[in-house]
Formats: sequence, C-alpha cells, structure tokens
Amino acid sequence: MKLKVITSNPGKVAEYARSFSELGIEMEHLRLPYDEIQTSDLSEVVSKGMDEIVSKGVRDFIVDDSGLFIDSLGGFPGVWSAYAQKTIGNRGILKLMDGAGNRGAEFRCCIGCDIAGERIIVTGICKGSITDSERGSEGFGFDPIFTHDGERTFAEIPIEEKNRISHRGNAIRLLTEELKKKGLAERSADP
Ligand code: IMP
Repeated sequence: MKLKVITSNPGKVAEYARSFSELGIEMEHLRLPYDEIQTSDLSEVVSKGMDEIVSKGVRDFIVDDSGLFIDSLGGFPGVWSAYAQKTIGNRGILKLMDGAGNRGAEFRCCIGCDIAGERIIVTGICKGSITDSERGSEGFGFDPIFTHDGERTFAEIPIEEKNRISHRGNAIRLLTEELKKKGLAERSADP
C-alpha cells in the first residue's frame, strides 16, 4: 500500500514517514495546493480539501489540517494557525499571552485519508501549555513555545518522543486503528 502525503510542510513529512514505515505503508510526498475554506472546524477544512483533490483525479492520499488552540485567547490561533505563524510568529503569540494567568493550550490535528476508495477522517489532540519564552531547535512552527509536560518544549524533544505524544501521533494512531479495522494495514503504529 502506498499513500501520498499532500502537504507543503517538510516537518510533517518527516513525522509521517517515520510512522508509516512502521506500518508497512509506503509514503510519497506530493505538493498539490488546495483551497482551505474559512471555518472554525478543522474536519470541515479537511473534508472540503479532499473533495477538491479527488476532483483533480488524485486517490490514495492523506491531508491534514492542524492548529494550536490557546484557552485564554478563546481558541486563537486555531484554524488560523498557519496565518498567525507567518505574520506574528511565536514572539507575537508570547506577546498576546503577556500576563495571562491561564497558559493552557492544545494542539489538534485532523487527518483525512482517501484509501481504496474509502474516506476516513480522524482528529488527534495533545494538551499542554504555552511557555514564557521560545526554547529549543527541533521541530517546526509553534514547537518552541508549546510544552506537554510543563518542562520541555516540543522543540526540545526528539521526533520519536514527539510522535509518541503529539496531536499528529495521536491522529495517526486513530487512523491506524481504522485502517486495521478495514483490513488496510497489518501492523500497529507506534508513532
Ligand atoms: P497546517 O496544518 O499546515 O495548516 O498548520 C497550521 C499551523 O500550525 C502551521 O503554522 C504549523 O506551523 C502549525 N503546526 C501544525 N502542527 C504543528 C506541530 O506539530 N508543531 C508546531 N506547529 C505546528
């Protein structure tokens, strides 16, 4: 079984590559731009994106949409995470959080998988908090300001450890369970 991972983000490709190799699923990276509709629901963004990709004749692929949802900012940046990352960046987020008592946040990752003519959509979550400053050089995006254990940021842990607890790792595990139920994957994932 071979799946195309459709994304422009090399950080995500590295995380998927490791997880899928453990499942015995071959992975191919495909850059194919598609529209992300304006809605506060990640799974709606994914579902509409999948419709567009299928209409272009592409099958057997996965897409994902993820975001950082910060409690004290009413869930911002959420579905606007990519835009917030590009414009205000991690420093801007830290500035918005200046003096915030509640630093709770969660990453969410919604994966849409088109495989053997079927569609599976799952959402993985990782709860944590926003640090006071940027730390670490691993990973990408908001990794330097997000901690799941209150000590190390996602940019301070190895990719294997991040995959074991991250929103994307959790979404991949949910996807694997679905693939196994349908007899489309043999081994279990340990992302
Ligand atoms: P998208 O899913 O590519 O649209 O990602 C939305 C935004 O969230 C991007 O700016 C990413 O950098 C950020 N993001 C998504 N997943 C992660 C992650 O695992 N770590 C850090 N930032 C992430």
